[in-house]
Amino acid sequence: MVKKDNLIVGVDIGTTKICTIIGEVDSQGGIDIIGLGLSPSRGLRKGVVIDLESTVESIKKSVHEAEIMAGIPVESAYVGIAGGHIKGISSRGVIAVSGKNREITQVDIDRVIDAAKAVALPMDREVIHVLPQEYIIDNQDRIKQPLGLSGVRLEVDVHIITGAVASAQNIIKSVNRAGLEVKDIILEQLASSESTMVSDEKDLGVAVVDIGGGTTDLAIFVNGSIRHAAVISLGGDNFTYDIAVGLRTPNREAEGIKRKHGCVLTTLLDDKETVEVPTVGGRKPRVVSRQVLCEIMEPRAEEIFGLVDREIKNSGYGNLIPAGVLITGGSSLMKGMVEIAEQIFDLPVRLGIPSGFGGLAEIVKSPEYSTGTGLLLYGWRYGQKDPYFMSKNDTRLFQNILKRMKDWMKDFF
Ligand SMILES: Nc1ncnc2c1ncn2[C@@H]1O[C@H](COP(=O)(O)OP(=O)(O)OP(=O)(O)O)[C@@H](O)[C@H]1O
Ligand SMILES: [Mg+2]
Repeated sequence: MVKKDNLIVGVDIGTTKICTIIGEVDSQGGIDIIGLGLSPSRGLRKGVVIDLESTVESIKKSVHEAEIMAGIPVESAYVGIAGGHIKGISSRGVIAVSGKNREITQVDIDRVIDAAKAVALPMDREVIHVLPQEYIIDNQDRIKQPLGLSGVRLEVDVHIITGAVASAQNIIKSVNRAGLEVKDIILEQLASSESTMVSDEKDLGVAVVDIGGGTTDLAIFVNGSIRHAAVISLGGDNFTYDIAVGLRTPNREAEGIKRKHGCVLTTLLDDKETVEVPTVGGRKPRVVSRQVLCEIMEPRAEEIFGLVDREIKNSGYGNLIPAGVLITGGSSLMKGMVEIAEQIFDLPVRLGIPSGFGGLAEIVKSPEYSTGTGLLLYGWRYGQKDPYFMSKNDTRLFQNILKRMKDWMKDFF
């Protein structure tokens, strides 16, 4: 008999699917998978809730399915949040030093940071963190600590992290309306990395790339902690769309063709293979070579991995990830993804599959469940120790969201 206290639940609200995974903490402290529920997601675009009602319905359905499999009702869950709306901007503040003898005091430092913070932000964004990078005193740059130094003009370069608080609130609202309490929100990249990376990779330096339906999420880990996170608004759905247009077939058929015959690297194919393509308007299916299908898909894979590669290089961590790149998410299952990624990154690449679970572990052993299983692991490993545990109270909740985001960001720098 499963005890309620030992239950741990993750709800991954993706662009393609909503997935609920129920785990039970066993006597040795491991996690047994005991329930999985899936339902198609229709209320999201690029990882963000755009239709509350249909998101709530999909969550309910997936939770119900997981509860039936596990044979126990659940009350609370760890929920993923896509990081596309979390952005960093650079800004500079300038002041005239006011104190006696032009000596820089804490008051001057606070004032210059305030000046740097005064950037125009759209209404839906909140400043979450202001990270001073360096100070400049009378054109002398690269000063880390200006306190006590003398000068006339004090400047500071800061990195400002902003987030769309509304996005977080919409996720929480959807889960609450589906009848569950949100224990905590977790950045999706952090979750999928948690379930797929091994600790050697995390320490050595690795990039985790989760290619979903709507977005591709990147997280870079060096020396055991996250250093950089980014989201690219392209994913598996773009391949499906390209196939639908390129082969003039309905989207649903294009999705099936992609999964069954798709390949993103032409050199992997035998040029005699063919694919039957259903057409629109009741005409006879056409037969095309698989090479043609691949020629439609390959440029999209090159585009996505090319953008990820640029992001890795621009982050400054490009030379610090000897463990290479881990690709995961449903779209990493396309034939040729590992091979083409190796060519583009010029680094070792492997497929990230959730591991380290007991019970019905087999049913979640696919890159599609990296985020869902990662939510369980992350929640279980760090949730109890988290001082900012979510509360049902709305104003506290708002504060908690901000604190959570600050926490993630602290690790990035
Ligand atoms: N066997 C497969 N072969 C090829 N593509 C697949 C396969 N299985 C799933 N996909 C693709 O993976 C994508 C869905 O991946 P996933 O379930 O990780 O996305 P998601 O979490 O719902 O979306 P996102 O993370 O972008 O919000 C879809 O585009 C789907 O077509
Ligand atoms: Mg996902």
